Amino acid sequence: MEKRKQLSVSAIKNGTVIDHIPAKHLFKVISILGLETFDHQITFGTNFESHKLGLKAIIKVADKYFSEDDVNRIALVAPVAKLNIIKDYEVVEKYALKVPKEISGIVKCVNPQCITNHEKVTTKFVIIMKPEVALKCHYCEKITDQEQMEIQ
Ligand code: CTP
Ligand code: ZN
Repeated sequence: MEKRKQLSVSAIKNGTVIDHIPAKHLFKVISILGLETFDHQITFGTNFESHKLGLKAIIKVADKYFSEDDVNRIALVAPVAKLNIIKDYEVVEKYALKVPKEISGIVKCVNPQCITNHEKVTTKFVIIMKPEVALKCHYCEKITDQEQMEIQ
């Protein structure tokens, strides 16, 4: 049988490729990075087979290099994602995400009684691993887990 390697999403000349995103969290990653409002060229694909993840998604943003702090926020839903920096069609740098210790904004607290759901208070969480990433609210101490995470 003929064997060939083909990219399912076209290569980019310059920019960032975020690979190994769990497919079910692709749209959360898009929203955490604020890609909805970007005017860069963005291509993405999802539900590709991955040995490690089951089904994975990939996002490619042309001519954009994220700051580490910005990109580490996606570790909330995609802790094993890999970043690839592309320059002139070559992968010049590849790195894993670091899960931040705390996070403000981005996610809603799961507790309907929490002050952040009633007043104009920005959410704030300590990140815990149980072993998946989960968020402990700074205000009400309730835990918002991976499946409950709703991006604001
Ligand atoms: N890529 C791209 N455009 C380029 C070069 C690479 O979109 N000009 C993408 C590839 O499609 C791949 C990712 O960047 O999704 C990383 O490329 P590479 O390191 O060559 O691939 P792999 O070795 O398969 O990556 P990994 O080891 O992370 O699975
Ligand atoms: Zn709370």
